[in-house]
Amino acid sequence: MKGPFVIAVDGPAASGKGTIATGLGKAFDLPVLDTGLLYRAVGVLTARAGGLGDPETCAAAAATLTADQLSDPALRTREAGELASQVAVHPHVRSALLEFQRTFASQEQGSVLDGRDIGTVICPQAPAKLYVTASPQVRAQRRWRQLKAQGEPVSLDEVLADIHIRDARDGGRDDAPMRPAPDAVLLDTSEMTIEQAADAARRIVEAARARWDGS
Ligand code: CDP
Repeated sequence: MKGPFVIAVDGPAASGKGTIATGLGKAFDLPVLDTGLLYRAVGVLTARAGGLGDPETCAAAAATLTADQLSDPALRTREAGELASQVAVHPHVRSALLEFQRTFASQEQGSVLDGRDIGTVICPQAPAKLYVTASPQVRAQRRWRQLKAQGEPVSLDEVLADIHIRDARDGGRDDAPMRPAPDAVLLDTSEMTIEQAADAARRIVEAARARWDGS
């Protein structure tokens, strides 16, 4: 029996995957889960409690996380992204967040999840998988503009350095490293505006949807 129509959108920091996932949710009328927010929330909550260095404390925060803890604007900061990638290396944090993500993905109407390991670990059976990339320079520019609009005083060089550190940590960890699923469609958005990227993603998913409808 075929499962729900799940769209997995993975990729590195500031590749455009969040905007693309939101656009796909609108285009296909599906609920969207930004899984990065889960890791950001665990990072911020454990840092506030002074337990960041302890994997057990991080895992406990992950196990008790609720949806209403995901709307805190503090989760959108540069610091929260860094804290997220630190707690995301712990296997117990990842396993504690697995059920939350799988429950979301099991909705009958279908769903869109964006993250790092959706196509490889969380929903390997997803009928539509995208891996969104862009060059580190382009991603740094995008993230720098975003942070500036949020009022965060940070230089472009600092943001580029953050991107390199996060790419290395997310791609180098032992548990669920960031990488494209073998059957993911790669979408390099370096030379695209965000509208062009969202359009390209929609066309890829339309093709996947047609295959899924006919299966
Ligand atoms: O928005 P941005 O791409 O910068 O980050 P995010 O998607 O909010 O994710 C923040 C961090 O959480 C990432 O750098 C990863 O370390 C971690 N993460 C993960 O390990 N697995 C996911 N499915 C989503 C995020």
